[in-house]
Amino acid sequence: MPKSTPKTLIAGNWKMNGRRENLSEIKSVSEGVQATKQGPEVLVCPPAHLLGLAIDAEKDSQLHFGAQDCHAEEDGAYTGDISAEMLADLGAKYVILGHSERRQGHNETDSQVRAKVKAAVRAGLIPIICVGETAGEQTRGRTVARISRQLNGSLPEVLGEARFVIAYEPIWAIGTGLVPTPKQIADVHAMIRGRLSDRFGTNGETTQILYGGSVKPGNAAELLAIENVNGALVGGASLKATDFLGIIQSQVSEVA
Ligand code: PGA
Repeated sequence: MPKSTPKTLIAGNWKMNGRRENLSEIKSVSEGVQATKQGPEVLVCPPAHLLGLAIDAEKDSQLHFGAQDCHAEEDGAYTGDISAEMLADLGAKYVILGHSERRQGHNETDSQVRAKVKAAVRAGLIPIICVGETAGEQTRGRTVARISRQLNGSLPEVLGEARFVIAYEPIWAIGTGLVPTPKQIADVHAMIRGRLSDRFGTNGETTQILYGGSVKPGNAAELLAIENVNGALVGGASLKATDFLGIIQSQVSEVA
């Protein structure tokens, strides 16, 4: 059964995949979601060149759209970058920030992620802030330390009533087919929930905490039933409508 508070969020992160012809996958997801009642909130984060096209094509659908990164400034001489305000102007609702592929591949630091989170909130976007440990940290029992540091460094001091989402993505589980045990996930999510409640009160208690890393149609029901798992951030399995719908449908209580 899907949990009612906070509402389950199933988010697809296409990463650097997709061409205009792949917009048909989004259309199929939209049709599948349309055919369900009382389903989760569904978000698709295509690459930047498809974002505006997808939003325009699906403006009457129940899908939400988001970007995979943004710059901290509103405008300026930042060749190749895109601001949160520009994404909001396109009609995006969410932005993924601090994904491990950006932290590792672009050397993004916690303080840069924090500046981007502030930018997202400033522009009225909902940031999805990613945290997660490496395989080495996991083996050495450093998971909690790493995630605490990322939460402290990547979240602004004050967020007021602004909605934000946390995604716990163990780096070793991304794209590998490996998944932590339900107990490992439950422990990390409970720890994150505790930190959020301490820092942000009621807002922290109702913040969605997503799990990400090798979520597939076959394991989604089990993963999403874990305490304090309020949704999933899905990479590979979000590229094909049939797979993504399989995950979404694991959270649907009734078909229309
Ligand atoms: P994956 O990626 O589902 O392909 O493991 C998850 C992510 O990186 O968000």
